[in-house]
Amino acid sequence: MASMVIAAALLVSGCTSSGDGAIQRKGPASTTSSLPDSDQDQDSSDGEGGSTSSPTDGPLDGLGSPTSVGDPVTPGAGAEGIDVLSYDLDLNVADPQGPISATVLITVKAEQELAALNLDLHGLTVESATIDDLPVDVSRDGDELSLKPKSPIPQDTEFVAAISYSGDPNPVEDPSAPGVIGWLDRESGSFVAAEPIGTKAFLPSNDHPSDKALFSFTITAPENLTAIANGVLAEKLTENGMTSWRYTQSDPMATYLIQIAVGDYDLIEATGPRGMQIRHAVVRNLSEEQRTLLDQTAAQIEFFETLFGPYPLDTYGLLVADSSPEFALETQTLTLMPASWLRGNTDEFSRVAAHELAHQWYGDSITPSSWSDIWLNESFATYAEWLWADHAGIQPLEDSIEEGKQVAEEGRGIYGPIDDPRPTEIFSINVYYGGGYVLHALRLEIGDEQFFELLRRWAADNAGDNVSTEDFEALAAEITGSDLTDFFETWLRSDSLPALPNK
Ligand code: TRP
Ligand code: ZN
Repeated sequence: MASMVIAAALLVSGCTSSGDGAIQRKGPASTTSSLPDSDQDQDSSDGEGGSTSSPTDGPLDGLGSPTSVGDPVTPGAGAEGIDVLSYDLDLNVADPQGPISATVLITVKAEQELAALNLDLHGLTVESATIDDLPVDVSRDGDELSLKPKSPIPQDTEFVAAISYSGDPNPVEDPSAPGVIGWLDRESGSFVAAEPIGTKAFLPSNDHPSDKALFSFTITAPENLTAIANGVLAEKLTENGMTSWRYTQSDPMATYLIQIAVGDYDLIEATGPRGMQIRHAVVRNLSEEQRTLLDQTAAQIEFFETLFGPYPLDTYGLLVADSSPEFALETQTLTLMPASWLRGNTDEFSRVAAHELAHQWYGDSITPSSWSDIWLNESFATYAEWLWADHAGIQPLEDSIEEGKQVAEEGRGIYGPIDDPRPTEIFSINVYYGGGYVLHALRLEIGDEQFFELLRRWAADNAGDNVSTEDFEALAAEITGSDLTDFFETWLRSDSLPALPNK
């Protein structure tokens, strides 16, 4: 009953709750799918754990190195005791619909003595692996890859793991995700949609947002195709019909924010505020009229800069792909945007584009260290979307607040507290709309001046780092000089909502 009320309210605003409570926007075109389709070219013949070496006798954690960070939302993901400093991926994509082959150099700092380096990897075949150029024992156990050197790696040392692997990436299905995630492909090309734990489908990695790292990608593909990834193009070289594209980025990134796309994409360049570089990649069959929708990117960046402070990353743009999920994803510096959004309601496109852009400040540059804190991403991007919709004359802020209120009142009972949603509900409407409403309450509580100072300091002080709800509460208290414990307790975690502060 309650969720029907919410669904009805959200239909008005262009969103609806799917059966499992995940956020779902009204389809931009005529599609009616409620969740991302499974990858069309899903290949089930390439099973998991295609390791070339024999498995070890004992369980991996028996090796004495943690196999997870223990995040209740994604229990197997990541590993404690390691800090990945950088990933340098050399990836060959002869055919975007086919298998990949790659070598990755992972520079790691051991935060404790390590008997083995444990990473996440879903399917694919590990062909060889070394640590500091020495051979290691390779073993697989489910989605866990373990590299065991002859002798333990001492605490506080830095080392480089080199892993060569190949295969047809299998999408990941997980209750924490709003749909099928991983390396996905369509006729027009491949792209990545990984949040929260789809990166392990194409990259052995410490696949948890608490371990941000630097990334560089060299992608080699047939010269008639375009390859694009997060960051800026540093080098492009064509030899024997194959082009290698090297992308680098100067800011740290969480694994779930990777974007790598290969296919029939056109690159479009533009200039943003203060001369910043904007570049988009769009499916070749996008019409001229649809392409002009991308022109508003600069105005959106400019608007958010006045509210949130300078754009925090190297570059920005949209990857407009034939992704069948009706979900856009804030992949760092290069948002994944389903082409259907540019072919449908232009106001809806504008809102979604603003939402994903706002994530570059809230989610990408600063990243929650646990998935339970996902409201620090989604509630902030939703509130930013409301501010843009108001500014652009799409929807007055009061109307968005009213919708948020209805969700917030019902949502906590269904999906759990905003800052600690049930593990299967991290992308529920309560985190988006209910949390947007909480931020509006905070704005009324502390006033515009301190509220926007808080948003700016939040982004600036933590750029490149991980954050928690506790950090946000502490900064709010610092800026306002008042004790906001009760406010946050009530608005984020209590069973019932008070009226909006009347200030
Ligand atoms: N973070 C996305 C948003 O902006 C939602 C999302 C989560 C998503 N996981 C995804 C989108 C996987 C596409 C694919 O709201
Ligand atoms: Zn979002």
